[in-house]
Amino acid sequence: MKKRLVIANWKGYIEREEEAKKFAAQLRKKTRAWRGVEVVLAPTFPLIPIITEALKGSRIKVGAQTVSPFEDAQHTGEVPAALLKDLGVSYVIVGHSERRAMGETDEMVRGSLMQALSAKLLPVLCVGERERDPSGNHFAFLERQLVSALKNISKHASLKLVVTYEPVWAIGKTASDAMRPGEVQETVIFIRRTLASVLPRTGALRVPILYGGSVEPENADILIVGGGVSGFLVGHASADIETFLPILNACAR
Ligand code: PGA
Repeated sequence: MKKRLVIANWKGYIEREEEAKKFAAQLRKKTRAWRGVEVVLAPTFPLIPIITEALKGSRIKVGAQTVSPFEDAQHTGEVPAALLKDLGVSYVIVGHSERRAMGETDEMVRGSLMQALSAKLLPVLCVGERERDPSGNHFAFLERQLVSALKNISKHASLKLVVTYEPVWAIGKTASDAMRPGEVQETVIFIRRTLASVLPRTGALRVPILYGGSVEPENADILIVGGGVSGFLVGHASADIETFLPILNACAR
């Protein structure tokens, strides 16, 4: 079985250095013997050096929540990919719906993805519809997001990429509001087919597809078994070790 991947998207939930250090130390201790799951912590930018230090020598990786989409430096407040790489970051989330809602365009998402790839960071491309409609228009929406983010991308020969499907309507709620495994699986198949139309076939088959949106200890098991996903992007439940560990456990089995 391929290794599963679980990314903790801390957003702004963990605000204090001490809290971040404590979390990282506990996680490190509890997951020392685990082999079946790759764990990534994605804190806010200022906490990255603290987390990198706390995880030194462990298998847990560090992620960033976004990256500058621009090649040049004249963009106040943007964090360049090369700096993240230097700080020990391995993964970077791009196109999260909360950033798209603040005005991040498809073009910017594509820019962030390209910047991440150029710096040898692994981009975690988020796609997801705001609402589902019975006639299935959300599929066309997902396809547009994927195709625009991955335009001309196959030029990157050894492309390494993660795609996360996060239906916006399911984010930040509870397990009972999350998507059902059967619907996740259907969407994963659709995403895979779309990837195969824009990437070389072997590349498309290799891309891990994650689910995100109210993953909690209560639904992690059924989603990993029935959702056809390679893992999860976890928001609120990743900021508390008591809820994050059972999710990891479900993926490590
Ligand atoms: P949630 O967030 O797990 O709190 O729904 C997921 C995300 O936004 O990545």
